[in-house]
Amino acid sequence: MKLKVITSNPGKVAEYQKSFDDLGIVMEHTKVPYDEIQTSELEEVVAKGLEELRSEGLSNFIIDDSGLFVDALGGFPGVYSAYVQKTLGNKGVLKQMEGITDRRAQFKCCIGCDIDGETIIVTGTCDGEILFEEKGTEGFGYDPIFTPDGEKSFAEIDIEKKNEISHRGNAVKLFREKLIEGGFLK
Ligand code: IMP
Repeated sequence: MKLKVITSNPGKVAEYQKSFDDLGIVMEHTKVPYDEIQTSELEEVVAKGLEELRSEGLSNFIIDDSGLFVDALGGFPGVYSAYVQKTLGNKGVLKQMEGITDRRAQFKCCIGCDIDGETIIVTGTCDGEILFEEKGTEGFGYDPIFTPDGEKSFAEIDIEKKNEISHRGNAVKLFREKLIEGGFLK
């Protein structure tokens, strides 16, 4: 089975491919722009994205919307994570966190899938902390400043390990259950 992964981020496609290798699903990196509506809920962004892409004739595809929610910043950057990554970057987020001792944060990932005309939407989370400096060279985005265990950053662990514990990995586990329960794996 093939599923298109609609994203501009090749890092996400690599993570999905690793997660679905054993089920024989081939992930096709596909770049099609779609609107990300302004709302505080990732699920709403994903539901609207599915609708828009379907109305353009796309089928059998995955989209996902992720965000980093920092407790001490009232959940910021949250649904604005992509914009903040592009503008402030990791150094800018660390600057916002100067003098803050409560470093707790959560990554969330909402996956939306169109498969055989049906919809699957699932959300995975990963609790952790914001580090005091960037660490590591793997991964992408906020990986160098987020640690799931208070020690290593996501950018210091390989994809397999990250998938075991990450927000996207947890969303993928739920997504796999839905694919199996729904009898979509032929
Ligand atoms: P989006 O889901 O691609 O819109 O992601 C929002 C922002 O969060 C982007 O800047 C991504 O780089 C970042 N992001 C999403 N997932 C991850 C991750 O697993 N690690 C680090 N940053 C991420």
